[in-house]
Amino acid sequence: MAKDALNAVMQEFSGEGADLIPMLQRAQATEGFLSTETMSRIARWLKVSENEVFGVATFYAQFRFTEPGKHHIKACLGTACHVSGGEQMLDMVERRLNVRPGETTEDGEYDVERVACLGCCALAPVLMVDDKTYSQMSVLKVQRLLDERDDDS
Ligand code: FES
Repeated sequence: MAKDALNAVMQEFSGEGADLIPMLQRAQATEGFLSTETMSRIARWLKVSENEVFGVATFYAQFRFTEPGKHHIKACLGTACHVSGGEQMLDMVERRLNVRPGETTEDGEYDVERVACLGCCALAPVLMVDDKTYSQMSVLKVQRLLDERDDDS
């Protein structure tokens, strides 16, 4: 994260231990993810150990540690999606893009996130790419969708 941007985030807080989670949230909102350097600087600012900052950040699913991709894929693994083949859907995304949830593809095109419920369970299993929802996804439909997106780019 650019030094100035992180300094601006830090100035919003008083530098107490209770600021840790809100600071991590603000830093991620500004940068899109939490880099090792950002977390180290936050640790120094709050006068806590780097281990504590890394421990807290990795505990919460809301934080990501790799730069986001150009496009954001959300694979729903809530109950309705899970029982309707959500795991196979996500597995296909992972194999096709060679990426795991929380990571970004090597070409920076996609990042993948596993989510608990997208609020449209009747359409399970559901995949979102950016702000578009794809319903009743099967392994074949995932493959076709990603092939079509490849052709468009
Ligand atoms: S469980 Fe997937 S949309 Fe609700």
